[in-house]
Amino acid sequence: MFNQIDYRGKIIKVIHKAEEIQKRSEQIRCQGKSIVLVPTMGFFHEGHLSLMRKGRELGDDLVISIFVNPAQFGPHEDFESYPRDLERDLQLAREIGVDAVFTPDNMELYPEGFQTYIELEKLPNHLCGLSRPVFFKGIATVVAKLFNIVKPHVAIFGEKDYQQLTVIRRMVQDLNFNINIIGGPTVREPDGLAMSSRNNYLTLKQRPTALTLYKALVKAKDLLKNGVKDAGEIIQVATKLITAHPETGIDYISICDPECLDTIKTIDKPALMALAVNVGKTRLIDNMILYP
Ligand code: PAF
Repeated sequence: MFNQIDYRGKIIKVIHKAEEIQKRSEQIRCQGKSIVLVPTMGFFHEGHLSLMRKGRELGDDLVISIFVNPAQFGPHEDFESYPRDLERDLQLAREIGVDAVFTPDNMELYPEGFQTYIELEKLPNHLCGLSRPVFFKGIATVVAKLFNIVKPHVAIFGEKDYQQLTVIRRMVQDLNFNINIIGGPTVREPDGLAMSSRNNYLTLKQRPTALTLYKALVKAKDLLKNGVKDAGEIIQVATKLITAHPETGIDYISICDPECLDTIKTIDKPALMALAVNVGKTRLIDNMILYP
């Protein structure tokens, strides 16, 4: 463990051991203070920072975790190449006034002999879960572990990963975690592209193609405003818009119930439109709630 000092003289604790942060959290709880956790995989962009700023307002002690969780990556996914820059992340966290950073190594969270995982029965059988079979099992497991380690009163997750947020809310309810789960709105580039650590993989040529996810969502909103309520028709228009660009491979475009994620045929109540598109080798996701 080592401590670092920020430019305003505020100390940020960097902790690698679960037992250590567990003890720290117990002490903070004993003082009657509230703990807010923002779990992340690092390589911060404005989306992460907005969650931290929200966290700063919502409690006394702000903890973030930085851990690229191997359990949520499939065998052919980008675990190895996932962007990492701990020094830069710590600097940014310091500037926001984060109190402690939990950044364990893989062996700390998944020691030899590890064999307990959390799986949800239904929510992962939609959207990203269909093409990423281990994804939500890995997320639910690591988030439950982080909850037991950091013992937060409040935890904040980005709405860009809408299905993840839904899965976590369900898990918290099902397993009686006494934690308030808060969603933070998607932060976008000035042109509308949802911020993501994976945007870093995009080439200059692929950048306009990446924007088609957002354009498809805006188009869907417009169609609905003009009276098109048929989800199939909207998905068809969105598909055309995206596939007109090079290097696109649609994983899914779905219009579904925002809670159970079951597909919706006619939009006569608020619906989630979510999509995942490969731009070259980069898998991007985005979503929007459509209000009839
Ligand atoms: O959204 C993420 O960055 C990750 O899925 C999370 C919630 C930190 C779990 O590894």
